[in-house]
Amino acid sequence: MDNPDDELGQLATVFNETLTRLELSFEQMRRFTADASHELRTPLTAIRSVGEVGLRASRDEETYREIIGSMLEEADRLARLVDRLLTLSKADTGEASLSIDVIDLCELADRVAGQLDVLAEEKEQSIQIVRDGAPRCTGDPLVLRQALLNLVDNAIKYSPVGGRITIRVAQPPTGATIDVCDTGPGIPAELQSRIFDRFYRVDQSRSRENGGTGLGLSIAKWAVEVNGGRLTLEETNGAGSTFRITLPQNAPSPIASSLRAV
Ligand SMILES: Nc1ncnc2c1ncn2[C@@H]1O[C@H](COP(=O)(O)OP(=O)(O)O)[C@@H](O)[C@H]1O
Ligand SMILES: [Mg+2]
Repeated sequence: MDNPDDELGQLATVFNETLTRLELSFEQMRRFTADASHELRTPLTAIRSVGEVGLRASRDEETYREIIGSMLEEADRLARLVDRLLTLSKADTGEASLSIDVIDLCELADRVAGQLDVLAEEKEQSIQIVRDGAPRCTGDPLVLRQALLNLVDNAIKYSPVGGRITIRVAQPPTGATIDVCDTGPGIPAELQSRIFDRFYRVDQSRSRENGGTGLGLSIAKWAVEVNGGRLTLEETNGAGSTFRITLPQNAPSPIASSLRAV
């Protein structure tokens, strides 16, 4: 060894960097567990207090029905949350194995629109699909569908009654894109970098009312990236939001398919 000090110095630097990364990932895990516990406790507390109040005196049948109805609603919220946490946990450990196929993006958009039409109708909204060619890509159809479902679900949820949602499917020379545009309030520029974070909601109260968990976008981002693509929020100049999925034409590589969640 010509210069042991330098070698040792380099070793110490690498060691310190590794420690910092480890600390960061422990901190992220700690925060995730704390946030998840907090979110799980909210519907549990609601179920418990509704039940306790219901048992305090005898009530007529209609009141009991209402009580059971609201307990079931909270149980649904709990189940949704647990499903989402499981998805993220599989993503974190790289357990989510992909089943790669050729995906017809127009068909994917049709399916997602069909699945969420009922929700849109409840708010007198329309979901329009605009096709530019017959874009295809290779990836896992189910995982990609989850991403698009989460985006369209948000578009419906955050747009007002009578709003318009457009799913635009196109194939520029570089790959394929799916845009989800809505006529909602948009997302303030200073918050745009945070909306993909786990549990983050722009408006806690509005989102809670809608049954939001703050996990939809982080799952969507993972689902797109594991398919070798990118999920971005496009500039809309204050007129609603447009989220864009950009996909490569080739199948995700083995490296991409073991990608960890964000
Ligand atoms: N299409 C949209 N229009 C306006 N705000 C949105 C839209 N999509 C997401 N957001 C904001 O980003 C936050 C995170 O979204 P998401 O991760 O899907 O969580 P949530 O469960 O609250 O829908 C939402 O709480 C909302 O404030
Ligand atoms: Mg959502």
